[in-house]
Amino acid sequence: MRTYYIETFGCQMNEHDSEGIAGILSGLGLSPVGSVAGADVVVLNTCSVRDKPHRKVYSRLQDLRHAKARRPELVVVVAGCMAQLVPEEIAVKAPHVDLLVGPGSYGKLEEALRALLAGDRAERRELLDLCAPDSSPVPYARAQPFRAWVNVMVGCDNHCAYCVVPAARGPEVSRRPEAIIEEVEHLAREGVVEVTLLGQNVNSYGRGLTPFIDFPDLLDRVNAVGGLRRIRFTTSHPKDLSPKLIEAMAGLEKVCEHLHLPVQAGSDAVLARMGRGHTAAQYRDLVRAAREAIPGLAVTTDAMVGFPGETEEEFEQTLALFEKVRYDQAFMFKYNDRPGTPASDLPDKVPEPEKQRRLERLVSAQNRIAREINEERIGEEFEVLVEGPDGKTPGQARGRTRQNKLVIFPGDEALTGRFVTVRVRQARLWGWIGERQVTGA
Ligand code: SAH
Ligand code: SF4
Ligand code: F3S
Repeated sequence: MRTYYIETFGCQMNEHDSEGIAGILSGLGLSPVGSVAGADVVVLNTCSVRDKPHRKVYSRLQDLRHAKARRPELVVVVAGCMAQLVPEEIAVKAPHVDLLVGPGSYGKLEEALRALLAGDRAERRELLDLCAPDSSPVPYARAQPFRAWVNVMVGCDNHCAYCVVPAARGPEVSRRPEAIIEEVEHLAREGVVEVTLLGQNVNSYGRGLTPFIDFPDLLDRVNAVGGLRRIRFTTSHPKDLSPKLIEAMAGLEKVCEHLHLPVQAGSDAVLARMGRGHTAAQYRDLVRAAREAIPGLAVTTDAMVGFPGETEEEFEQTLALFEKVRYDQAFMFKYNDRPGTPASDLPDKVPEPEKQRRLERLVSAQNRIAREINEERIGEEFEVLVEGPDGKTPGQARGRTRQNKLVIFPGDEALTGRFVTVRVRQARLWGWIGERQVTGA
């Protein structure tokens, strides 16, 4: 039997797309393997949001060039955002790539792979149309049987000055609610208890659909699907977060108490240069309203330091905002110039060592805050959905609370996919170490 290996870079949309690519390859009769070594087809599902994943992909492609010299029948595929954005560069640097496929073209991937596997390799293939989301069911090969990602929309219509996603994924298009509900019902019948609804900006879901439906209405409909226990979603843009969404989160029992709300920066001047469409005070009001309405809400964020022109004072406003909001978790980045984005043309670039220094200060403040938040809750019980054995410590299982906090506790493989109650005993940066309570959830 022929085999495939997929390496995924980037965000949850890419992780989910990789499940779709795996589904297609499985449908063609291939089985997955854990490394390049034994694979007949290697797919790199790439990300362009920062420079680092680009460099990693080129280094992987270099290794694959050697592998292909030894095994000419090896099929090399570059998928995802980098394929969409820099196909010529990839073709020049890695002429041994057989197929480039962008995020809007997975609907055509099966046919192209079929031809490649049949030995038809006369020239490199390119599938780079940004088409509308495919509402026909995709045979996703899911990593876990009990939870699933579901796309509610593709693309992005925002113009954050630093970001390549709109260019890589095209304009925002919402999927029809009927297609989404059908998919969720199907998943629930298969035993999925937790879904994560995916979109670059889920708060603008529904734009352009008739009859009109918005994201809170969609949540209401997903909440009604029997068998499902937890609903998550990502990502929310602050400028489109409505009071109605907060109400829906508070009122719908399956919607988890977790809001990922990227802030990017704490200075109004920087936020304006980024084109984010809100101020720091408006952002804090939103978080305050959400916390008042939703008891136990965990709030997480993305932020970057060293946006062009960011002064020391402006950076300190990000630090101050972190101290005021007190995030459960934050993904923090050094601003990275991306070709073709408006920010890359802005003057006054912050020098690399300065960005590094700012990042370290922000990370250290955030680490302290996260630990403090987790310490405050020692002794409490949480409902945990068990993900499986903890890879690092034998005899320990890992799972997540509704707030998306990681919990590690003594437990075995048999608990995977089940809900248990865990009393937390020790706080860590990422969550807690605890003990299972026999009453069970
Ligand atoms: N749609 C999501 C985020 C997509 S990209 C949203 O709007 O929040 C994920 C994160 O990468 C962003 O939130 C941002 O913090 C970071 N990011 C995007 N472009 C970047 C760049 N040029 N340099 C550094 N970080 C960047
Ligand atoms: Fe990028 Fe902004 Fe769209 Fe998020 S909302 S994907 S940061 S352009
Ligand atoms: Fe995601 Fe990276 Fe593309 S963050 S949308 S895979 S550029």
